[in-house]
Formats: sequence, structure tokens, C-alpha cells
Amino acid sequence: MDTHIPLALLGGLTASQFMRRHWHKKPLLVRQAIPGFTPLIPRAQLLALAGEEGVESRLIQQQDGGRWKLSHGPLARRSLPPLQKPGWTVLVQGVDLHDDGVHQLMQQFRFVPEARLDDLMISYASDGGGVGPHFDSYDVFLLQAQGRRRWRIGRQKDLTLREGIPLKVLEHFEPEEEFVLEPGDMLYLPPRWAHDGVAEGECMTYSIGFRSPSRAEVAQNVLLRLADEAGDDEDTPIYRDPRQEAVAQPGAIPSALQDFVRDAVRRALDDPQALERALGESLTEPKPNVWFDPAPPGGLLEGVVLDRRTRMMYDERHVFINGESYRAAGRDATLMRRLADERSLSAQDLARASDDALELLSVWCDSGWVHSLA
Ligand code: SIN
Ligand code: CO
Repeated sequence: MDTHIPLALLGGLTASQFMRRHWHKKPLLVRQAIPGFTPLIPRAQLLALAGEEGVESRLIQQQDGGRWKLSHGPLARRSLPPLQKPGWTVLVQGVDLHDDGVHQLMQQFRFVPEARLDDLMISYASDGGGVGPHFDSYDVFLLQAQGRRRWRIGRQKDLTLREGIPLKVLEHFEPEEEFVLEPGDMLYLPPRWAHDGVAEGECMTYSIGFRSPSRAEVAQNVLLRLADEAGDDEDTPIYRDPRQEAVAQPGAIPSALQDFVRDAVRRALDDPQALERALGESLTEPKPNVWFDPAPPGGLLEGVVLDRRTRMMYDERHVFINGESYRAAGRDATLMRRLADERSLSAQDLARASDDALELLSVWCDSGWVHSLA
């Protein structure tokens, strides 16, 4: 993607200008970010998706007296309130995994590294529906898909949450600005900006969300993988203590054993390749509930495209796909990086590919990770 071309999606800013001026810094309202936008998934199909096993969905209802009720999916159609009833909303996470059109829409936001892109959530709301004033810990683009939604936003300091309700709703919301979004309009909000979106009539909003893992979470993911890898080392030295003396206090842990463990952990962490491998594998690990349909073997001549559920990234020495890592260098690395960046390879790309690269691509095709355009 050329990051220096002005984009209607970003109100005429280039992706570079947007990242410098707005990303993590200040909101951006874009009127007609996608002119003439209409929902990619009809209401009935979205509500049916909310009822499927393995699709993350929520129903939020505002009840009399300002009480909030939250139910987690799968949500059977008959468990949803009547469409005419005001004040409810259904939120369906990860719709990009289930629909090619929605996946394509999300690709427009790949001026942000893939490692940071999370998913596209669709909310359907009846008149007056919403999730209440709140803040998110990640950036979000809120694209209005159908109907109107009134957004009130503010950079508020007091992030105290209301107690005793099943949602994260701000106790003292103090909006500073207000906008009504029409289909095709989009609002970008940096992390921790307070916001409240209320449907004005029937409404659908698409949220493009980002992954903002905590330090603890990445440490846990990477350390678990490093531990697995360390556990696979068959030549690993075992602890020996030929000079251990007889002890009168057998409960005390020998300091030599502590030193041995410290050294073992340091060695596991010291190998930069192991750490980068573990990170790439964990970033490309498919989401829970994602499975691929193996495909019958076929030719690769006309080009290949990644399945919408496939996650593919790379670093200086590796290519990662769906939680697996491969060392790659030279021409093959260039090819695989192009596949990760563009999510497809043309017939010309394939004509220049090595036998090893073609072999790997056909294995990925068999697994359903990549599809042949033949
Ligand atoms: C919604 O679409 O109703 C909620 C989106 C959000 O506030 O993050
Ligand atoms: Co939000």
C-alpha cells in the first residue's frame, strides 16, 4: 500500500499523515469515508451469525429504570427482542473471519501493521440501542453501515466505572463533542477516549478494532512457546551436584540448583531467534474457533490467495503462517513476504518461485490456508 496517497477513507489524509496526526493522539471524523456504503451483511444474516456456535456475540438491553442486561451468545433468533422494541443491541465479533466482503473491507486498514489489526465487529441496534458510555483500551474505527447513530465523545480523566452492572459503563460521562453518523461516515477514536453511540432508528455500525496486548499477555504467550521449545532439546544438560555435602536441613533449596535454573532460563531467553520465532508464531496463531477446510490437491499456475482466516507475517529471518515458522532467505523470502503483504501471488510470481517454495505453497493449499486461483 502506498502510504503517501490521499485517501477518501481518511478524509483526504494520506495514511502517513493519519498515523502521525491522529493515531493514538486525537479523533478523526470522516464524512463519506466510503461514499454510498451499504451493509455487506443483511440484518437477517447477521442475527443468524449471532446464533452460531463458535461466533462471539453479545446482546445488550437497556431495561426500565436504566438497568443494563448482558447475555452472551450463541443467541438464538427467538431469544432476541422484537425488532420494534427500542433499546437493545447485538454485537457480533470477528465477522471478517466469516465473510469475504467484510474481510476485504478490513484490508483497507492495512496501513497499520497486520500484527496490530484485530477484527471487525458488527453491531445491530434497535432505536435507542447502544452499549452505554465507555472507553476501550485500543484504537477503533467506527464505520456507520446503516441508519444513523449519535456519537458523543470526550477525553475524560475520570474513568470510574459504574458498579453493580454487567457492562463497563462510565459513572460520570462528560462528552465534549457530538456527531450524528450517516451510512458511509466514519469516526476514529484513540485508546481510552470515552464514547457513547446511540442508535437513532434501526442502525448498524462496523468497528475495526486493534490488538493491544498487555505486557503480561505477550510475556505469557512468548514464554510458553520458549518453554515448549526448550523442552524439546534432547541434548540438554541435566543438573549434577558431585560436590553436594550432606545436609542437616534437607528442606533448604541448594543455591547451586537456583543458579542452574537461572542459567537455564537466561539461555532460553538469550537466543534472539527463539524469541522472534515465538513472537511470530504467537502473532499468527489462528483465533480460537478457526478451522480450515483441507482442499483437494490442484495446480498453482494461475496464482494463489490467502484464505481470509489465514494470518501471515514475517520478520528478517522468518516467515510465519497460522502459528508455524519457516526460515526464509533470498528469492523465496521475497516471494513469501509479498504473499504476506499482498495476501496473493500472481502467475508471474509463481513462475519465478523455487521448487521448495512451490512445494510449501501446495502444502498450505492442501491445508486450506491458501487457495489456488486455477
Ligand atoms: C457499538 O457498535 O454499538 C459499539 C462500538 C463501540 O463503542 O466500541
Ligand atoms: Co467502544
